[in-house]
Amino acid sequence: MSPIKVMTVFGTRPEAIKMAPVVIELGKYPELITPVVAVTAQHREMLDQVLHLFRIQPHYDLDIMSQGQTLFDITCRAMHGLNEVLMRERPDIVLVHGDTTTTFAGALAAFYHQTAVGHVEAGLRTHHKYSPFPEEMNRKLTGALTDLHFAPTATARDNLLGEGVGADAIFVTGNTVIDALMATVNKEYRFADGALAGIGEGGRRVILVTTHRRENLGEPMRQVYQALRDIVARYDDVEIVFPVHKNPLVRQVVSAELGGIERVILIDPLDYQPFANLIARSHIVLTDSGGIQEEAPSLGKPVLVLRDTTERPEAIAAGTVKLIGTDRERVYAETERLLTDSAEYHRMATACNPYGDGKAAGRIVETILWRYGLLNSPPQQFGCPAPTTEK
Ligand code: UD1
Ligand code: UDP
Repeated sequence: MSPIKVMTVFGTRPEAIKMAPVVIELGKYPELITPVVAVTAQHREMLDQVLHLFRIQPHYDLDIMSQGQTLFDITCRAMHGLNEVLMRERPDIVLVHGDTTTTFAGALAAFYHQTAVGHVEAGLRTHHKYSPFPEEMNRKLTGALTDLHFAPTATARDNLLGEGVGADAIFVTGNTVIDALMATVNKEYRFADGALAGIGEGGRRVILVTTHRRENLGEPMRQVYQALRDIVARYDDVEIVFPVHKNPLVRQVVSAELGGIERVILIDPLDYQPFANLIARSHIVLTDSGGIQEEAPSLGKPVLVLRDTTERPEAIAAGTVKLIGTDRERVYAETERLLTDSAEYHRMATACNPYGDGKAAGRIVETILWRYGLLNSPPQQFGCPAPTTEK
């Protein structure tokens, strides 16, 4: 039996973190699978950090990033580059991840070549076309082109069923971010970065902050940063650690509002290993990130989400995540509440793991092997009873 060729396509930091466990797992079956890794490099330094950590050497690197790139730039460059790669490699299936413009371009390029698509982290929805923008539509459009939907949770599966996707094309796997997190967080970890070596010393409470969403650029971010300034002015036992995204539009507002303020540590994006360990040592997380909403609950950290909508309702239902938007007074009030109301803090700081058990990548790869006739039965799905059907 000849091996199947499985091509993974990704381009940004979060896709790389969440695809790395899948790339590693694909490499464990050399007789059954020929893996090919193609990165668009929609992100450059932030992607390279992750490739380095997980020791992934892409077969193709399209190197498309430009400063201040538009959605048109990313889509067109990725499509042209992927066309060449697909013509050359002719994979059996292309795996894309999540909701970025690389994700959608990867699925569309595979479709134009009439190649099967597997969507990792399928089925997340806010049901708002422009929130998050353009991620909600990237997910829906990718879903329309997908043959195998790897839904992280039962909620994501139900979203797909509600859109008419056949049950036999959906597999609940857990989210691969939990695989990556479990391989990375370690109680003994020591920060090499001098700015972080002394964080939390003297009983200081660390608030970890990240922001990058396109819909929050400008005034919404400004309001959040002003609220944070008010918090450090009022609470002298609080320090803010803020690894600032590389986007110049984010960096301008951050330095205008938070530059030079005592107990506000502004740093470049961290490598995944220090970042994941920093979550574990923080008191509260404020973020508009998708991935961090999944990681922090599993480390028992309360998360205030700086957005009006989320496609990740599971941790909200569990009580560890709260959607608060970006209004200055609301951000101040919700942060202050967690700093002063210990009952509320402890209620939100209960560790919960609705997103995965660390075995998602294994389930994804075994499902592919089974669908291509290389395994006799599918793996047990995440949070589901053992399967009874054989193919
Ligand atoms: C992208 C994704 C978003 C994802 C986010 C993760 C799209 C449309 N957006 O948003 O879904 O949540 O990544 O972080 O797919 N830059 C660098 N170096 C880097 C990375 C970025 O300099 O390593 C700068 C560049 O100037 C670039 C800008 O950041 O033009 C914006 O990058 P882009 O990928 O367009 O948008 P993100 O906001 O990062
Ligand atoms: N992350 C990181 N370094 C940082 C900030 C975030 O490694 O300085 C990781 C984080 O742990 C998570 C992922 O990047 O796994 C989230 O990426 P981001 O917030 O950029 O994108 P999103 O998840 O919103 O698409």
